Amino acid sequence: MTAAAGKGLEGVVASQTSLSFIDGLKGVLVYRGYNIHELAPNASFIEGVFLLWNGRLPTRPELDVFEARLAGLRALDPRTLDGLRTLPGDAVPMSALRTGISLEGMHDPDAEDNSAEANRRKAERLVARTPTMIAAIHRIRQGKEPLAPDPALSLSADFVRMANGEPGTEEAVEALDRTLLLYLDHGFNASTFACRVIAATLGDMHSAVTGGVGALKGSLHGGANARAMQTLLEIGSLDNVGPWLGKAFAEKRKIMGFGHRVYRTEDPRATHLREMSRVLTNQAGLGEFYEMSRELEDQMIARKGINPNVDFYCATVYYALGIPIDLYTPLFAMGRMGGWTAHVMEQHGDNRLIRPRAEYVGEMDLAWAPIEDR
Ligand code: COA
Repeated sequence: MTAAAGKGLEGVVASQTSLSFIDGLKGVLVYRGYNIHELAPNASFIEGVFLLWNGRLPTRPELDVFEARLAGLRALDPRTLDGLRTLPGDAVPMSALRTGISLEGMHDPDAEDNSAEANRRKAERLVARTPTMIAAIHRIRQGKEPLAPDPALSLSADFVRMANGEPGTEEAVEALDRTLLLYLDHGFNASTFACRVIAATLGDMHSAVTGGVGALKGSLHGGANARAMQTLLEIGSLDNVGPWLGKAFAEKRKIMGFGHRVYRTEDPRATHLREMSRVLTNQAGLGEFYEMSRELEDQMIARKGINPNVDFYCATVYYALGIPIDLYTPLFAMGRMGGWTAHVMEQHGDNRLIRPRAEYVGEMDLAWAPIEDR
C-alpha cells in the first residue's frame, strides 16, 4: 500500500477538465480559454454560462435565444414552493437552498434521466430557478409571499426584484451579475469536486448539485464571504484593524476571506471585486469598510504573506448593495450553479467512478471478544 497523498489532496490532479484553468503561481483564471480579466468587464453571467456549457461565446441571436429560454424556466415547481413554506422560519438560507434544490429534483420531469439532452434541460432549469428559490426563501422567512418571476428582466435584475419587492438600480444589478460571473467556475474546488464524485456514481444532476450546495456552505469554502463581512463588522473601525488582527493571530483564528489552496499570489477575481468594493462602498456611504478591508489586506500580506481570496472583497460589494449577510453564500451558489452543472455534464460525458484509496492507520489482528467479556 502506497502512502496517502498530501493532506486535503493538496496538489493532486484528480482528472481532466476543459471548463476552467487556474495557475496559482501566476494568479491566472481562465474559462474555456478566456482569461477572467477579458471576461469580467465584458461578459454577462448568462453569457459566461453559455460559454461554459458550449465551449464558445454566443452570437447575439444565440445569446438572446438562450436568455429567453432560461427566463421562461424561472418559475419554481409549486410543490417546491409548498415545501419551502414548511421550513423553520429561522432556517439558515444555505440549508433551505440545499433542501429546495433537492425538492426540485423530486419534481423534475427528467429527474432520473442522465442523458446529455436531459442533463442540459436540468442544468437550464437549475440555473434559471436558483435565483427564484433564494428570493422565495428570503421572502418566506419574512412572512411575505414569494414573487413570480418576470421573464422580461435579466436573471440578475429579476433576482433583485423578487428578493426586495422592487427593482434594483442598473448599477446594482450589473454589480451583482459580475459577482455571479466571477463565482461561475473554479477548477476542482471542493463543492465542484463533490458534485463530480456524486455524478461519477451515475447519480443524477440534482443529487450532485445538492451535494455541491452542502459543500459550499462550509466556512472554509463559500461560507467565507458572509464570515468576512462579520469579521469587518467585528473589527468595527480602521484603528482597530491592527489590534484585532494581533489578537486573532494569538488565538490562532483563520481570517475569513484570506488564503487559498491554489493561489500563492493575488486571486484574479479579487482584483475585480476590490475595485467594485471601492466604488460601491463609497457610493453607499460605507467607504470606511473599504478602508478597513484595505488595511486588513495590507497587514495580512505584511505579517503573514497571505492574500485575500474571491470572498473577501465580495463581502463589502454585497454589503454596499444592501444584501442580507446570510444571503451572500446562496449568491455564491447562484453563480456556481452554472459551473456545477457544467461539471456534471462533463463528468457524465466521459465517466469513470471516482473512488480513491485510503491509507489505513488503525489497528489490525484484534481478537474477537464475546460481548459479556468486553
Ligand atoms: N488566516 C490565517 N492564517 C491562514 C489563513 C487565514 N485565512 N489561511 C491560511 N493560513 C495559514 C495557516 O494557518 C497555515 O499556517 P501554518 O503553516 O503556520 O499552520 C498556512 O497559512 C497554510 O494554510 P493551510 O491551512 O495549509 O491552507 P489550506 O490550503 O489547507 O486552506 C483555506 C486553504 C482557503 C481553507 C484557508 O486559507 C482558509 O481557511 N481560509 C479562510 C477561509 C476562506 O476564506 N475560504 C474561502 C476560500 S476561496
